[in-house]
Amino acid sequence: MKKVILTGDRPTGRLHIGHYVGSLRERVKLQNSNEFDEIYIMIADVQALTDNFADPQKIRDHIFEVALDYLACGIDPAKSTIFIQSSIPALYELTVYYMNLVTLARLERNPTVKSELKTKNLEESIPVGFLNYPISQAADITAFDATVVPVGDDQLPMLEQTREIVRSFNRLYGETLILPQEYLSENAICCRLPGIDGSAKMSKSLNNCIYLADESAVLREKVFSMYTDPNHLRVEDPGKVEGNTVFDFLNVFAEDYHFPKYLAEFKDLDDLKNRYRAGGVGDVTIKKFLFEILDEILSPIRERRKELENQKAEIMEILAAGNAKANEKANETLARVRKAMKLNYFE
Ligand code: TRP
Repeated sequence: MKKVILTGDRPTGRLHIGHYVGSLRERVKLQNSNEFDEIYIMIADVQALTDNFADPQKIRDHIFEVALDYLACGIDPAKSTIFIQSSIPALYELTVYYMNLVTLARLERNPTVKSELKTKNLEESIPVGFLNYPISQAADITAFDATVVPVGDDQLPMLEQTREIVRSFNRLYGETLILPQEYLSENAICCRLPGIDGSAKMSKSLNNCIYLADESAVLREKVFSMYTDPNHLRVEDPGKVEGNTVFDFLNVFAEDYHFPKYLAEFKDLDDLKNRYRAGGVGDVTIKKFLFEILDEILSPIRERRKELENQKAEIMEILAAGNAKANEKANETLARVRKAMKLNYFE
C-alpha cells in the first residue's frame, strides 16, 4: 500500500511559531524523509468558512499568506502538493454521501466541535455547515487515500470520526476507502507553546502570538514583553522557572550550542535555571538570550518569506498546479466511491 500524507490548515490568519514547532517543522521533516509516496497539504478555506462565512475577505486574504508561510518553512512543491480545498469539487460530493453514515447525535458529541461551539458562542444556534465539518474533513482525508494524517491532539476526534465513516462505508458498499492513522508528532505534545502573555495557548484571537513573518524588531519587543515571574522584581530576587513563559520557550528552543554562542557565562539550561531560581539572574538576561535563539530560527524563514512575497504570480501558479494534481487524485477516488454505491449508471 502506498504511504500518503494529507494534512491542512484553516486560512484564518498567518501562521505563528506555535504552528512551526507543533506541525510545520515536523511536516518538513516528514517531507524530506522521502518515506512517503504522496504528500498533500490543503489550505482548508471551505472549513474556515464554516465559522467565518460572514467574512470571506479574511479567508481570501490568508490563502496567499498561508502558502507563503508553508514555502518559507521549507515545504517544497516538488515533493508536496499544496492545494486549496474549495478548488476540489469531489470533496463536496463525498461529503454528501458520507452524511448518510453519521447521526446528528454523533456530531453533537464530537469534543472538538463542542468546545469550538462554546468558545465561538454558537451553542444557541448551530449552523448546519459548522456541525457538518467533521464529515467534510473525512472527505478531505479519504479523497486522497491518506494513510497518515499529521495533526495536533485537538484533531484526534476528527480522525476517529473519519475512521468510523470509513468502516461504515466499507461495510455497506464493499472495501473502498483507506483507513487513516493520525500522526502525532512528539513535538506537538512536548513542545506546546504558551502565548507570550503566559496564557495556555498561542492564538490569534488572544493577540499573544509570535508570527513567522514578524520582523526582528517586533520579535524583540514581543520577547521583552513576555510574562515571567511577577515576584522576581530585582535581579537579586529568587525567580520561578515554572509558569515562566520565557523558560517555557527556552525548554522548547534552547540547545547546548546556544550557550557558548549567546550566553557563555552559563553552562546549559539547567545551570541557567538553577541560578535564576537562586537569585542573581535578571529577566533581561533570559529574554535577550531567548530573542537571540528565536531570531536565529526565524531569520532564514523571514528572509525567504520576503523574497517569496514578490513572487505572487509564481506562487499562484504553484497553487493552481497543486489544485490540478489534487483534482486528479480526488476524482479517481470519487469514481471508485460512485461505483461502490452503484451510481455509475452510464459506465
Ligand atoms: N481541522 C483542521 C484544523 O482546524 C484543518 C483541516 C481541514 C485538516 N481538513 C483537514 C487537517 C484534513 C487534517 C486533515 O487545523
